[in-house]
Amino acid sequence: GAPVDADLSLLSPGQMLTVSWRGKPVWVVRRTTEMLSILPTLDNELRDPNSDNSVQPEYCKNEVRALNEEYLVVVGVCTHLGCAPMYRPAVDSPDMAKGWKGGFFCPCHGSSFDLAGRVFQGVPAPTNLEIPPYRYVSDSVIRVG
Ligand code: FES
Repeated sequence: GAPVDADLSLLSPGQMLTVSWRGKPVWVVRRTTEMLSILPTLDNELRDPNSDNSVQPEYCKNEVRALNEEYLVVVGVCTHLGCAPMYRPAVDSPDMAKGWKGGFFCPCHGSSFDLAGRVFQGVPAPTNLEIPPYRYVSDSVIRVG
């Protein structure tokens, strides 16, 4: 499939956009500093906090799973059976379980992921959401693929 560009200038802090790459949705999330500050506090609740058993380019195998911490680029397909998780960025989002810290929730069988796409323990999804290959072609444009 052909590479696809995402225009970061469209995103306000906390917002997500979707582009289609190889027939799959790829999400780009502009993370706030508050969102980023929560990530390191979650490691003990995650199945694969360091992404050792998950799929991502080597340059995204880091704490924030990104080239630039502000922008998460992730394939929007649940690693359990391929449903589409929902974006629930707010801490204590009213339709989520108590103590929700922001992330993604898969309605099919209840898998949940943090705002780096890392899977929580005790849910069916075996690995973190996949990070696709991508690069910055300018300060405000990411090319996926
Ligand atoms: Fe997402 Fe099963 S497909 S939890």
